Amino acid sequence: MDLAASRDLEEGGAVLVAVGAGTEARQLILLRVGGVAAAYVNACPHMGIMLDWVAERITAPGRRWLRCTAHGALFRREDGVCVSGPCAGQGLLRVPVTERGGRIMLEEAS
Ligand code: FES
Repeated sequence: MDLAASRDLEEGGAVLVAVGAGTEARQLILLRVGGVAAAYVNACPHMGIMLDWVAERITAPGRRWLRCTAHGALFRREDGVCVSGPCAGQGLLRVPVTERGGRIMLEEAS
């Protein structure tokens, strides 16, 4: 499944993409870490709600962390682990993605 253009995924930023439909619908956070594309399900381990609806709001402060705007949890971009906040030690659910031909693609389960 095609998710986004590679050029839209800059280091330090984030892009939110809706995938699936009905009960399978969810939102992914796409980001680039050390030049490599990565993705997490946009669901905070604290309460299961989205970190935010707006990508720019979850990349503060300093675009170094992902931040849940509900209660301020901070997540490491490289592995999604919460390092500060009510869900410290827990993590965002990672989703495998690949990048080829200038596109970010969801890896299909085999
Ligand atoms: S819902 Fe994310 S920190 Fe509380």
